[in-house]
Amino acid sequence: MNMQLNGRPAKANVLRVDGLSKQFEMHHLKRTLYAFENLDFEVNAGEFILLKGENGAGKSTLLRTLYRSYLPRAGHIYYRTAEGVIDLASAADVDISVLRRREIGFVTQFLNARPRVAAEEVVAEPLRLAGTPHAEALNEARRWLAAFGVKRQLWPAYPSTFSGGEQQKVNLARALILPQRLLLLDEPTASLDRDARQALVDRLAQLKDAGVAMIGVFHHPEDVQHLVDREIYLKAIKIEDGEDDVAE
Ligand SMILES: Nc1ncnc2c1ncn2[C@@H]1O[C@H](COP(=O)(O)OP(=O)(O)OP(=O)(O)O)[C@@H](O)[C@H]1O
Ligand SMILES: [Mg+2]
Repeated sequence: MNMQLNGRPAKANVLRVDGLSKQFEMHHLKRTLYAFENLDFEVNAGEFILLKGENGAGKSTLLRTLYRSYLPRAGHIYYRTAEGVIDLASAADVDISVLRRREIGFVTQFLNARPRVAAEEVVAEPLRLAGTPHAEALNEARRWLAAFGVKRQLWPAYPSTFSGGEQQKVNLARALILPQRLLLLDEPTASLDRDARQALVDRLAQLKDAGVAMIGVFHHPEDVQHLVDREIYLKAIKIEDGEDDVAE
């Protein structure tokens, strides 16, 4: 990987966000929408950060920016790998793909189900990409599907036909099957029943113990309160067109 080393002495942080800003240019409205501005924070190994704020405050946008689905307008996202520090804000797409495959995970409440791929294969895929033999990966996938309460008869079926909650369980099993170094969670419990929520919280506790750094938005924050080390509040956005600024 082509790393950008920033020359700072080693520290335990996995992520150091420095002056991060994101805005959306709404050309058709001639407006700029500021999702967040000048954010600074750090996340260490094994730390769990709860992201809070009103609807529209920019929580999902921040997570997507950290995952580099969005490019920030300004700032740095220093991510520490075993080989050095890489700025996710300016890293090459090819490096981002490698990191996403190996160490940065993102869980949303929506499953991007590919047509005609069985649930157990969807879940096993991250392990297979990491080199685990097929039969072993499939066994592990079934174990996770069971842990999240997906009925056995659904394992060989296509998730595109599943209910919203069932799809979400497949999504979680896939996202959590391979321990990541950094896990981004965007309301992963929103459509889950109580047992599945508990299974998720148990898994997050294990991952925290294993040193995974996590940043998440939770629909039921009380579920994870015992895991939270710090909270970050995002304030609602401002819309700027020179006249009717809306700042909350
Ligand atoms: N791709 C985009 N283009 C333009 N505006 C966007 C885009 N994505 C998000 N926004 C705007 O940015 C603001 C923040 O949205 P975001 O989804 O990050 O909020 P949120 O804090 O996750 O809200 P919620 O609690 O409802 O999930 C919203 O006003 C939204 O309309
Ligand atoms: Mg959101």
